[in-house]
Amino acid sequence: MSILVAGGTGYIGSHTCVELIEAGHDVVIADNLSNSKEVVIDKIKHITGLSEDTPRIKFYEADIRDGAALDEIFEKEAIDVVINFAGKKAVGESVECPLDYYENNVGGAVELAKAMARHGVKNIIFSSTATVYGEPDVIPVTEETPIKKIFHPYGQTKAMIEQILQDQYAADPEWNVVLLRYFNPIGAHESGLIGEDPKGIPNNLVPYIAQVAVGKREFLGVFGDDYETYDGTGVRDYIHVVDLAKGHVAALKKLLPKSGVSIYNLGTGKGSSVMDVLRAYEGACGKEIPYRIMPRRAGDIAIYYCDASKALRELGWKAEKTLEDMCADSWKWQSMNPDGYGDV
Ligand code: NAD
Ligand code: UD1
Repeated sequence: MSILVAGGTGYIGSHTCVELIEAGHDVVIADNLSNSKEVVIDKIKHITGLSEDTPRIKFYEADIRDGAALDEIFEKEAIDVVINFAGKKAVGESVECPLDYYENNVGGAVELAKAMARHGVKNIIFSSTATVYGEPDVIPVTEETPIKKIFHPYGQTKAMIEQILQDQYAADPEWNVVLLRYFNPIGAHESGLIGEDPKGIPNNLVPYIAQVAVGKREFLGVFGDDYETYDGTGVRDYIHVVDLAKGHVAALKKLLPKSGVSIYNLGTGKGSSVMDVLRAYEGACGKEIPYRIMPRRAGDIAIYYCDASKALRELGWKAEKTLEDMCADSWKWQSMNPDGYGDV
């Protein structure tokens, strides 16, 4: 199949392109490069053994808010399915600049869906997030866990886009929509050639630890050690980005010929604390990682992990890699590329 991967040069998108190509699909990437680099395309070709001039991966520098640019892609390429990774994702920034988030994420998703409708492409997989569950009453979180109040615009954009796509299905039941709610993706491809390349100070735990390990930052601030968890630090469901990428390939099989709307949690179903991750990372890089206990971060909750059994039951997918694998692959990427993709 030919898959339009919006946001395909980004962190999760690039890993998913590798898995799609390895599963025999062709990919057409549309990305405005606002948070990624074009050099990623060469890395994907390298990992998958494709030649320089292969037609199996194409790149369009395009913004998903730009309907004319999308029309051009749909006219030139015979797209079967769209995967929409394109979006801004920093929680704090979304609180400071909510309009940018609604415009880019919601506006972009609407333009993309409108372009799909214009060209008769009715199959979409959307990158949602566990954040849509807000602060759940019961852990682990299942797909039936009610959507609670979401405390930041970033999470709101994801919940809105989920609703928009469900409304579109209600209006035209020929659509097939898979909503994937990711838990905490970390790690990198085992080649060390692609990985997460945050701009500025990392917001998330593992990219921050990685920069301490490689000597770019002095110590990790542990945001609170007085939560009601087994060691007092926050517990999350970390999932290897390659497992997550494979979840998209599995979701593709479900999508066609007819699936309607389906929602899946993509996580391991296992919680790890901040200290568990720190220790596993120390094991991976063979160094002690300095840390200091800091106040809690506003908006954080104590424990979050999923029940991933629906994805296993219906997609035949489950996460295979351990926390040790995730840290080893993150460290390989970080140590081979201390400055990420650099300035290229
Ligand atoms: P990323 O920033 O690495 O990738 C997103 C890509 O989309 C980037 O390449 C960026 O240049 C592109 N993009 C942004 N706005 C665009 C637009 N208007 N038009 C075209 N391209 C645009 O992020 P990621 O970590 O790979 O996340 C991918 C998706 O998964 C996002 O939608 C994010 O919200 C969601 N998600 C991520 C996480 C996570 O922890 N990384 C967790 C849950 C959900
Ligand atoms: C955060 C976002 C979430 C988003 C996800 C992936 C918030 C409140 N939530 O989730 O919406 O979907 O990232 O992008 O921002 N921690 C530290 N020190 C650090 C960084 C994090 O101790 O420097 C702790 C946190 O308190 C938390 C755990 O590490 O307990 C994981 O944090 P993080 O990686 O930011 O992910 P989430 O908070 O789960």
